[in-house]
Amino acid sequence: MEKLTLLSEIETDTFKGLSAKSKYLLPKYFYDDIGSGIFQDIMKMPEYYLTDCELEIFSTKKKQITNAIKNGDTSFELIELGSGDGLKTKELLNYLVKSSASFKYIPIDISKKANNELVKNLRQEIPGLNLEAKTGDYFQVMKQMNGYSGIRKIILFLGSNIGNFTNNEIDLFLNQLAGFTNKGDKVLIGFDLKKSPEVIMKAYNDQHGNTRKFNLNHLARLNKELYADFNLGNFEQHTKYNPVTGEVKSFLVSKTDQTVRIGAIGQSFRFKKWEPVFMELSRKFDLETIENMAQENGFKVEQHFTDKRNYFVDSLWARE
Ligand code: AVJ
Repeated sequence: MEKLTLLSEIETDTFKGLSAKSKYLLPKYFYDDIGSGIFQDIMKMPEYYLTDCELEIFSTKKKQITNAIKNGDTSFELIELGSGDGLKTKELLNYLVKSSASFKYIPIDISKKANNELVKNLRQEIPGLNLEAKTGDYFQVMKQMNGYSGIRKIILFLGSNIGNFTNNEIDLFLNQLAGFTNKGDKVLIGFDLKKSPEVIMKAYNDQHGNTRKFNLNHLARLNKELYADFNLGNFEQHTKYNPVTGEVKSFLVSKTDQTVRIGAIGQSFRFKKWEPVFMELSRKFDLETIENMAQENGFKVEQHFTDKRNYFVDSLWARE
């Protein structure tokens, strides 16, 4: 009898992506422990302005943000989707603790290592913090948490992580958020804004080669976890920006005709010379689009917090 093997999620997604007419891989698989580390190197580059802008917003506007989310003295859960190293959130957490807000911080991240480091760091730096970290895909963790407590929720989704989503995925995500929250709950979402294409290209096509490393690490991960035999030297990284749609798209392009075997799914995939694999969408937004998005999905925009250059916005919405 033939053995039926169930494919794991990463195996199924990789099979689907590499079998598609236009090949793609999903950005959520960038973040194994090594990829999370490379992303931290990306965030440290001056060219990657996003992190600096959001940090500026959190440090200069923490008073306003705190007042807006504290909403008197009622207790709440502060849930962060994709918390990573929590660098920006720390500014806010410190301030919330100092202003004796009654809340529990629940960071959710797909990387166990990032999560452990964050917990260790927060325990040291903010001893009074009520903290419960969760590891996993935030969609799944949110599903498990549904009906978790009747407490007021504030959801943080920072760093323009939402830029990874297509319009369809944004609607699905906001729909899920609406289901997860109650009337009056709030969400604070970070959006990278449209700006000079040159500034954007420098952030995603950096001279240090970190973005290239970040993309190639996805293949290295498949080599390790799915017993694939990608030769990383056979791929070149390419990024393009479309100022009309605001889409930054990253690709790995096959430099040669090649066949790659993925042991774990028992399949080989052909890559033609110069065939691209779509790796990531990092979309840039404008305020009008953001406001429509909120409205169409049952949220009311309460406030936009921007940096002084207007490069980035943390947009605070209330669930209607
Ligand atoms: C973590 C999705 C916000 O798209 O800017 C950085 C990831 N990719 N450089 C982004 C990323 C290439 C980042 N996000």
